[in-house]
Amino acid sequence: MPAAALTGEVAQGLESARIRQDFPLLCRGAHAQGLHYLDNAATTQKPQRVMDAIVDGYTQEYGPIHRGLYPLAEAATSRYEQSRATLADFIGAASPDELVFTRSATEAINMVASGWVGPRLRAGDRIWVSRMEHHANYLPWQRICRERGAQLCIIGLTDDGRLDLANTPQLFAPETRLIAVCHVSNVLGIENPIHQLCADAHAHGIAVLVDAAQSVSHQPVDVQAIGCDFLAFSAHKMYGPAGIGLLYGRAERLAEVEPLLLGGGMVDEVGEGMAASRWADLPARLEAGSPNLPGAAGFAAAAGYLDGLDRRRVQRHLADLTRTAAEALGALPGLRLLQPPGASAAILSFTMDGLHPHDLAQVAAEHGVAIRAGHHCAQPLLRSLGLAAVARASFGIYNDVADVEALVQALEDARRLFGQGA
Ligand code: ALA
Repeated sequence: MPAAALTGEVAQGLESARIRQDFPLLCRGAHAQGLHYLDNAATTQKPQRVMDAIVDGYTQEYGPIHRGLYPLAEAATSRYEQSRATLADFIGAASPDELVFTRSATEAINMVASGWVGPRLRAGDRIWVSRMEHHANYLPWQRICRERGAQLCIIGLTDDGRLDLANTPQLFAPETRLIAVCHVSNVLGIENPIHQLCADAHAHGIAVLVDAAQSVSHQPVDVQAIGCDFLAFSAHKMYGPAGIGLLYGRAERLAEVEPLLLGGGMVDEVGEGMAASRWADLPARLEAGSPNLPGAAGFAAAAGYLDGLDRRRVQRHLADLTRTAAEALGALPGLRLLQPPGASAAILSFTMDGLHPHDLAQVAAEHGVAIRAGHHCAQPLLRSLGLAAVARASFGIYNDVADVEALVQALEDARRLFGQGA
């Protein structure tokens, strides 16, 4: 399909042009001119509202959290805990105490691996992940299994890239201790049936961890409706600040997590011997060290911003834009989409016959189009597909048809440049 054939219909869900005005980097940044930012699965840009919350966190309320009795310290503590409560609402948690601030989704997953699975895992036990996992939801399980003599098992994929649950008969066997899967794949853009998976796993007494890093910015995520034991995500992929993430744990599960980090703020009592030391209540027990108030405030502001746009409309807009882009890219000669038909999670990975993905990304960059090329921290998946690298375009709330047109134009030029065109 020639780029000019695309229509503006997808913009009906969201006014992306107006939304872009909220993002200083996209309007006034040093790289704003001609920029088509399509690397949102890697990280998203930030609205002014998030930056304001971070600045306020330093200029209005910055002080020690849970460590001071004077008004400034109390204001800082209150802002930090309000941020937690906002984020608890954002994901439908039963209580803010079920949320632990971390540095990232990666840290949150590692926290569960070392603090909950590790102490429970015995030789012969099994942990299941899927073939489409990001390395962050793969390596911590690989290591803990090796250390404990347990087995890391892989849920394979069907030919159209979905979890092949029908051919994984051992998934709910008595040896399984945990199933750890992504909500949405960062390469395939597929949404996994995590509600059903959690229900089936729980019927067999098995816990489930969901990596929601690629879903929270696209669609409403309700941890109680999902029914997961743990869920991890980061702020920077949902228009929030870098360097802060969250671990959600259902109250009774989180209560069983041993702290990864020991230090200030997570103890009630420190004795001469370890046995005499007592940990603080949750969530402080899992947040050793001085908390990141500006980060938490910015994180909560990002959640408020997304809620203000209406997350169902965000989801519709991204699904429509992804479908439009999939049709346009799929019509380019030699272009192969990894995404199965019907997947609509704002992520499109692709290859083009005769061109290396890095060359595609390079030519795209020359057109002002920012896409990612490489293994996307999903080497087991790419290897299973017989690929070393793919190119990936991923959409955000400020993208519209003009960005898709620019991408299509760039890919057509890449074909011509590298001698594949007519
Ligand atoms: N996990 C991020 C990505 O998929 C960095 O690009």
